[in-house]
Amino acid sequence: MEVTLHNGVKMPMLGLGVWKTSEGQEVEDAVAFALEQGYRHIDTASFYKNETGVGHAIRNSSVASEEIFVTTKVWNEDQGYAATFKAYESSLSLLGLDYVDLYLVHWPVKGLFKETWRALEDLYQAGRVKAIGVSNFLQHHLEALLPDARIVPMVNQLEHHPYLVQASLQGFCKAHQIQFEAWSPLMQGRIFEIERLKQLSEKYRKTIAQIVLRWNIQNGIVTIPKSVSPRRILENSQIFDFDLSPEDMQAINQLDRQERIGPDPDVFC
Ligand SMILES: NC(=O)c1ccc[n+]([C@@H]2O[C@H](COP(=O)([O-])OP(=O)(O)OC[C@H]3O[C@@H](n4cnc5c(N)ncnc54)[C@H](OP(=O)(O)O)[C@@H]3O)[C@@H](O)[C@H]2O)c1
Repeated sequence: MEVTLHNGVKMPMLGLGVWKTSEGQEVEDAVAFALEQGYRHIDTASFYKNETGVGHAIRNSSVASEEIFVTTKVWNEDQGYAATFKAYESSLSLLGLDYVDLYLVHWPVKGLFKETWRALEDLYQAGRVKAIGVSNFLQHHLEALLPDARIVPMVNQLEHHPYLVQASLQGFCKAHQIQFEAWSPLMQGRIFEIERLKQLSEKYRKTIAQIVLRWNIQNGIVTIPKSVSPRRILENSQIFDFDLSPEDMQAINQLDRQERIGPDPDVFC
């Protein structure tokens, strides 16, 4: 299943996240297995230090690389206009690709993110990247960026799970045609203790991970669960054969506690 970004590029709604997946054999095996199982979207970043392995797995796969949606991100220390170009070339070279499908500003680094965005716009307008976006941008970051932007970000990738729903930011992104994408959709493993999700898991005969990932899909949110386990990579992809009822969707939305497990973008950078 895909969403169409505001520039017409199609983005698969399910991807494999590879943060904390080690460079080399571990990431190559995870990406190779995911591609075999039908994943067509991989989310990496220069910060994850595993772009080389991601690239190897893509190039060694029987799936044509044009069919695989690859995201990478410019890290905080590489932000600014000129440094971003250098960072992009470095990511391409490590990945062994001619372009990536989506290049993101990893965090809204104060005083630099607008210059970084200008570099992404130029990369995009030069045809070097298929789509550009941001990550960890709250509404006020977007409100600061948009008046100066030539291109509205196509995607905003944010922490999102049942304890951090960010409904109003979702609405803001939707109103500006910015696709909302969830990182840490499984709360890095912590969703499994939530009682309401255990009940839904029994009701639908699906695992808690599948319930939460399905909730993302039905809300129109792109999701990128990370796993290095073949069993769990497969499990996380089996979410397109059932529907959560509107009441159960609402019940998950209402678990929101505005609780982060990752850094607060206003504090982190
Ligand atoms: N833009 C950003 O700032 C940002 C920040 C954080 C993450 N991300 C991206 O988002 C991706 C996902 O987030 P995340 O890695 O933080 O966390 P996550 O996907 O919420 O959770 C990953 C954890 O859950 C486990 N897991 C996965 N599937 C499972 C299942 N079906 N049942 C039980 N456990 C399961 C994994 O263990 P195993 O590997 O052992 O299965 C791992 O420990 C990252 O990999 C990265 O690509 C982006």
